[in-house]
Amino acid sequence: MLVNPRFIALLLAFFISAVTTTFLSFVEDTTETVLFVAGISSFGVAFFVIMYAIEILVYREVTKMHETIQRLQLKDFNVPRKSIVKANNPFKKLNQDIFVYVAKKQREIDELKKLEIFRREFLADVSHELKTPIFAAQGFIHTLIDGAIDDPNVRDKFLQKAAKSLDGLDALVKDLMALSQLETGEIKMQLQPTDLRLLTLEICEQLEQKALARQVTLKIKPDKLAHVWVKADPQRMNQVMTNLIDNAIKYGHQNGKVIVHFEEEKKHFTVSVRDNGPGIHEDDLPRIFERFYRVEKSRSREKGGTGLGLAIVKHILNAHGSKIGVSSKLEKGTNFTFSLEKVNDKNTA
Ligand SMILES: Nc1ncnc2c1ncn2[C@@H]1O[C@H](COP(=O)(O)OP(=O)(O)O)[C@@H](O)[C@H]1O
Ligand SMILES: [Mg+2]
Repeated sequence: MLVNPRFIALLLAFFISAVTTTFLSFVEDTTETVLFVAGISSFGVAFFVIMYAIEILVYREVTKMHETIQRLQLKDFNVPRKSIVKANNPFKKLNQDIFVYVAKKQREIDELKKLEIFRREFLADVSHELKTPIFAAQGFIHTLIDGAIDDPNVRDKFLQKAAKSLDGLDALVKDLMALSQLETGEIKMQLQPTDLRLLTLEICEQLEQKALARQVTLKIKPDKLAHVWVKADPQRMNQVMTNLIDNAIKYGHQNGKVIVHFEEEKKHFTVSVRDNGPGIHEDDLPRIFERFYRVEKSRSREKGGTGLGLAIVKHILNAHGSKIGVSSKLEKGTNFTFSLEKVNDKNTA
């Protein structure tokens, strides 16, 4: 609909002049010339006065408000200039703009609220996680000072326990730092041709004792693949593979099996780390990548876990442009998979 000040003024002026001439026509001795002049002049005066009033009092102010909202939109949301609605009716324009602006601001507020809750929870989690090993070490050391130091058996046991708690604290702080550096982008991935098979072999050798202690067999398959050249940061991939294999050993069954499987595809290698352990319940499955989420809190801590391993794994793989997937069946086992870009000629990656 065409609603602009000129149209409204024209309409109202026409109405006023019609009323004026109608009234005048009832007055005796009014000639047609007088009616005509009165009609024209009332129309002209009414038109300019109404036009001026609308222009000055309403239209300009509304247009100014509309321009302010547009400026805010451009500044706050980087909305492309083209996408801003062009309507003739300034009230409609203003209404639309305010609606869009408020909706976007609301979304921003919701996002900030979510972040604030997340930050608060994270702080509470970190404090709790730090407190546990500190209190434990503190307890052992105080007991020693209070006299237990004189008994050589108790002394060694308590010192070892205090040292274990402090090792846990060290691992936790290291993981927290790694996570924060990954999030702030401080750690940049040094992508280079990396033989993931060789890297996995080295990790398996490092974890051999741990696997032996639980009588877990570690295998890399298939045998025919001598090298798995991928474009990756070797140091970070070491963290990823170590955590996945370490998890599979410690959360799998005693006497269990852990298999690292590589599958060659056109442009990628798909890597999977499988175990035949107790598996993860489907309710827990989507949450295991959250910081400090553990299926069994006490069991994980007792095994020396910080609860940050999989969060770090997820971050590192995301930084490689990949994604970690997991599938698990209770009493059958768990399978973690991800893909990495293949390097055909390892010197040109
Ligand atoms: N292979 C697995 N089998 C069963 N549960 C697992 C496996 N891998 C991870 N989990 C569960 O996911 C949780 C998070 O793993 P992670 O982030 O590496 O923490 P952590 O190893 O420090 O406990 C573990 O506490 C464990 O409950
Ligand atoms: Mg772990």
